[in-house]
Amino acid sequence: MNAINPFYANRNNSHLSNRPTSDQFQPTYAKLPRSPITSSPVPHLTSLYHFDSKDKYGDRGYPGNCGGNLIKDLLHYFQPRNVFDPMTGSGTCLDVCRDLNIPCQSSDMRQGIDACDASQFLRDHFEFVWIHPPYWRMKLYTDDSRDLSRSPTLEAFIERYRLLIENCAGALTSGGKLAILMGDYQDRKAGYVPLVFWTKYLAMQVGLRQHCTDIIRFGHGASSSKKVYRSSFIPGLHDVCMIFERA
Ligand SMILES: C[S@@+](CC[C@H](N)C(=O)[O-])C[C@H]1O[C@@H](n2cnc3c(N)ncnc32)[C@H](O)[C@@H]1O
Repeated sequence: MNAINPFYANRNNSHLSNRPTSDQFQPTYAKLPRSPITSSPVPHLTSLYHFDSKDKYGDRGYPGNCGGNLIKDLLHYFQPRNVFDPMTGSGTCLDVCRDLNIPCQSSDMRQGIDACDASQFLRDHFEFVWIHPPYWRMKLYTDDSRDLSRSPTLEAFIERYRLLIENCAGALTSGGKLAILMGDYQDRKAGYVPLVFWTKYLAMQVGLRQHCTDIIRFGHGASSSKKVYRSSFIPGLHDVCMIFERA
């Protein structure tokens, strides 16, 4: 049949190429750009963050756990005297701070403490704030209606997210840094939701300015990476850490 009708043969082969092979689940090695030499105390901290080793911080089993390496590198870089993490999840940031002997105030909706409610937190106090909010409803965390992941619409999420960023900005000292780890989100109903864009927009709205480059964090170990989808789309393999500064 192949020799008689090559188009038919090609059609069959194209089906074969869509089947996942064990090779497709192996890591791909890409050459990273050379980084300039600077006086940074953390030379490997660049706009491409690609460490996939597990670390001892937080709980890898917690949904949305982010690992502690990036937080640790940021703390080594900025050397803050105190830290605030009002969405601590499994306590990753707190664990890193304990390791580095930096006082850290951390809490989460799971303890009933709403990070959007400024009245619950100190003002003008922290030199560094770390937040890793829900990527809207990508993962659901608590049943509390104040939980950002429970926001019923994108508009409601954006409004709560604005309160969160405003609260964190008010908790910073002058010159303090707010690091936000966020990723874009999509689902059938909402389509593609550029949450990284919204983060910057809201941060600017509350008077923060971006301090340095975005840090593109490679998403090693995402549960979706081993799935086979019937639909065609461009997979997102990263999230973005943005660092803002209070004037
Ligand atoms: C992406 S997870 C953080 C995971 C954390 N970085 C870790 O490594 O374990 C987001 C967290 O935000 C919390 N959260 C959601 N809405 C909140 C709110 N309004 N106030 C405080 N925490 C909230 C969730 O309970 C969840 O633990």
